Amino acid sequence: MKYYITTPIYYPSGNWHIGHCYTTVICDALARFHRMQGEDVYFLTGTDEHGQKVEKEAAKKNVTPKGFVDPLVAELKDVWRLLDISYDRFIRTTDEDHVKCVQRIYQKLYDSGDIYKSEYAGYYCTPCESMWTVAQLKDGKCPDCGREVTLQKEESYFFRLSKYAPRILKLYGDNPEFLQPKSRVNEMVNNFIKPGLQDLCVSRTTVKWGVQLPFDKKHYAYVWIDALSNYISALGYLSEDDTLFRKYWAADLHLVGKEIVRFHAIIWPAILMALGLPLPRQVYGHGWLLIGGDKLSKSKQDAVKKDLTDPYELVKRYGADAVRYFLLREIPFGSDGEYTNERFLMRVNADLANDFGNLVSRTTAMISQYFGGVLPEQDADEGVDKELISLADGTFAKVKDAMARLNAPDALGAVFALVARANKYIDETAPWSLAKDESKRRRLGGVLYRLAECVRMTAVLLKPFLTRAPEIVLKGLSCDESAGFDTLTFGRLKAGTGIEKIAPLFPRIDVKKELAEVEKLVNAKKEAKKEEETNMPTEITIDDFAKVEIKVGEVIACERVEKSDKLLHETVKIGDEVRSVVSGIAKYYTPEEMVGKKVLVVTNLKPVKLRGVLSEGMILCAEDKDGNLALVSPEKPIASGGSVR
Ligand code: MSP
Repeated sequence: MKYYITTPIYYPSGNWHIGHCYTTVICDALARFHRMQGEDVYFLTGTDEHGQKVEKEAAKKNVTPKGFVDPLVAELKDVWRLLDISYDRFIRTTDEDHVKCVQRIYQKLYDSGDIYKSEYAGYYCTPCESMWTVAQLKDGKCPDCGREVTLQKEESYFFRLSKYAPRILKLYGDNPEFLQPKSRVNEMVNNFIKPGLQDLCVSRTTVKWGVQLPFDKKHYAYVWIDALSNYISALGYLSEDDTLFRKYWAADLHLVGKEIVRFHAIIWPAILMALGLPLPRQVYGHGWLLIGGDKLSKSKQDAVKKDLTDPYELVKRYGADAVRYFLLREIPFGSDGEYTNERFLMRVNADLANDFGNLVSRTTAMISQYFGGVLPEQDADEGVDKELISLADGTFAKVKDAMARLNAPDALGAVFALVARANKYIDETAPWSLAKDESKRRRLGGVLYRLAECVRMTAVLLKPFLTRAPEIVLKGLSCDESAGFDTLTFGRLKAGTGIEKIAPLFPRIDVKKELAEVEKLVNAKKEAKKEEETNMPTEITIDDFAKVEIKVGEVIACERVEKSDKLLHETVKIGDEVRSVVSGIAKYYTPEEMVGKKVLVVTNLKPVKLRGVLSEGMILCAEDKDGNLALVSPEKPIASGGSVR
């Protein structure tokens, strides 16, 4: 059986935060789970790189859009590497095969009449790359993010979205699995479909950082059509080799944040219908990680005072398993969840360091202490043993059921119920007391055998969720680290197996102390960032620079300004014009030296009077850090009046 799962493709925004990791970590756990079930999994993620936002940011920084996104994409890949994200392809919308595919999709839709030319007038939200009608605006601002929108009018191509409204409604009605959780269906129907779906503007002439339309080179693809197409372009749809497409399409799951459900549950199925393709089995709109009640986002991040949100730092301090575990366990699936370092540390401490870590280290330490690190034999089961064994045997079914509902918190809840039961079993059976009585040696062996089995089964069950600890545990139990779900029956460990004493897997954290340290770290980082920003020369665009008019002038007369030891008054000929200019260079040049010099003059400054003398320009000088000053002059003879570019 195949399983095709996707994350949304990420805007290369930089400032990656823990909220960004949420969708991808869940997808990774699902991909690993399905692989372990023996399914043929294809897991896709990537970056959404075109559009006005990138075009503008790159221009501000005076780099090409590609030059702007490349380092941000590399950073994101690094985050995924640190978190052990096991994607099969990382697609970039700048990849050549993707661009070609988008062009072919547009051509196909144009040829079939689903794309047509008209004129667009609407309100555009650049950060969201979304178009809105006036009725959709909220207090004149973007209804999604509340930011300013700009009125845009242009000749555009449109996709016949309205035509597909009845089929989309029918899809929701006939197939409740298509869009989950259920609440999102009501949202789509009431907020978007019922008020009337408009045809969608799918091209731009003003934004050039994008995919050029094959049938009209002035036009570039609307970023959302470009982006959504990644789910089929990655598989080679409409390419010379579409083997992957034939094998994996339709997607089994598009997991997305709730704010982009609209694109995935209305526009995307309509495009697929127009292309005559099968629809994804499911779109799931998950909730958000909140901070102080709001969605954790790039802009919010700057206001965060105490909490560490940077995935690099989090992984560095607590390890990939801890970060993955928190994301998978703490936020109720489908809802929003508050993120704080305190919640993170409490969760990791309680479940990983105390419950799981303790079970592993106590069990292996006792086998080492009482049996020299050799696994004893299981004795006849008593009531309390039977209860533990039946829980261990039944846990996989619960995990499987939860994962079929995509519910990692429930799946982990089931695994940790087994961990808790096993810890309780240690207290109930008190192996340390059994060890004192030689006649109970067989019973002691049986107890430790059962605990070792629980540890082994827990490690296998945790493999889709945690990527480091299960391997260490299985190695310590001399088990094959690639052990799959088929090993999840109690009693598979052989007596006589060598068992290593496993060191604590997760250090116990002193939460109070750690929170104080984290707060210091967050503030130090903020200070460093502020300093970097203030030390950075303020950037201007080429348009800003073009506003300054600089011309070549010749000083034809010069005298000192009365009662000033700093100022010289020059008479400068600039082409046919003569101007009076005052400059603070009397300490560096005498009036005699100045006469006859070719200088550069800023000519469009507002005139001012200095010590009563009119100044109609500024002569440019260079100054070094030792306070030396020199006039800036054209390097070769050039006529006065020449402009500087
Ligand atoms: N580029 C679009 C998706 C195009 S898919 C055809 C986009 N990118 S994004 O970078 O803004 O978001 C990527 C994913 O990160 C989304 O699923 C989004 O919901 C998720 N998250 C970003 N911040 C988040 C939280 N604070 N909490 C949970 N997930 C959030 O949208």
